[in-house]
Amino acid sequence: TIHRASTTAPVNIAVIKYWGKRDPKLNLPTNSSLSVTLSQADLRTHTTASCSSSYPSSDSLILNGSSQDVSGARTQACFRELRALRKAIEDGDDSLPKLSTFPLKVVSENNFPTAAGLASSAAGFAALVRAIANLYELPSSPTELSRIARQGSGSACRSLFGGYVGWEQGSASDGSDSVAFQVAPAAHWPNMRALILVASAAKKDVSSTSGMQTTVATSSLFASRAAETVPRRMNEMQKAIQEKDFEAFGKVTMMDSNSFHATCLDTYPPIFYLNDTSRAAIKVVETINTAAGKIIAAYTFDAGPNAVIYYLEENEAKVAGLFKAALGEKDGWVGKRGDAIEANGE
Ligand code: DP6
Repeated sequence: TIHRASTTAPVNIAVIKYWGKRDPKLNLPTNSSLSVTLSQADLRTHTTASCSSSYPSSDSLILNGSSQDVSGARTQACFRELRALRKAIEDGDDSLPKLSTFPLKVVSENNFPTAAGLASSAAGFAALVRAIANLYELPSSPTELSRIARQGSGSACRSLFGGYVGWEQGSASDGSDSVAFQVAPAAHWPNMRALILVASAAKKDVSSTSGMQTTVATSSLFASRAAETVPRRMNEMQKAIQEKDFEAFGKVTMMDSNSFHATCLDTYPPIFYLNDTSRAAIKVVETINTAAGKIIAAYTFDAGPNAVIYYLEENEAKVAGLFKAALGEKDGWVGKRGDAIEANGE
């Protein structure tokens, strides 16, 4: 027999960025962060986990049809934690099949280009962890699964929840309190939209994992960002979401993206994720907001030149419309996608 379970997990895009690890092994961050989970329909990873005593002896992982190395510490940590939870259940009930002793096979498909640098590791590890948890019939809560997914990729812990999601940095050295939490469900502020602009020069030249390590080691701006700027903005952002105050949400989103990219520039050697294409998008957002006389659009950039523009549905024509008219391939943009923000079913 082959035992099998499937799930999907959506991409999340941070409005307060995670950048810096206090423990690289457990993936414990130097600051809390906050993101919006995107709609499942648009950007998500679909994963099937299976196990069988008849499988070849080692675990395997296939992503978009190609075989991946599972020997890395992050994947191993997720497999190990999930197996331990399953084993504890098996030890208490002799009638259960000993799935924890069987080799695992994980098959994942992204419905968006993995190479485009669109937070694929977040959806990927969130789906991997939940698929195996389903396969093992674990009673684990999304909070518990977020603690495991964090060890695969930090940002993945936030994709275990839908809507508006925080990741509490925590203080325990074993990482037990470094977990995701839901700030508000998507239904609380359902007219939030995200426009994804994919730049042609989309390949990351510095991975987030190595980039943040170099920032922690060399940037002098980093310490005040982690200790003062982000804690203050976490409070401002949660308040903006509770009050559905788009101007505050947008301003903090843009300022935190700017702060993150400033610490990247302050890293030695410097890290440049934004390019001329990205800066053109920033200018379009400023033009839109100036014309509106208030903030109706907000940009944010992760570890690459792609832009994500947040706006409210009622401003669709003014924001997405202008973007579609203003930016084309000649400016370096190869893809545009507007996604409704919806809960992931939790
Ligand atoms: C800029 O979660 O990819 O997107 O924990 O090393 O896998 P690892 O890093 P990762 O970093 C994401 C960085 C970011 C900001 C964010 O999503 O909060």
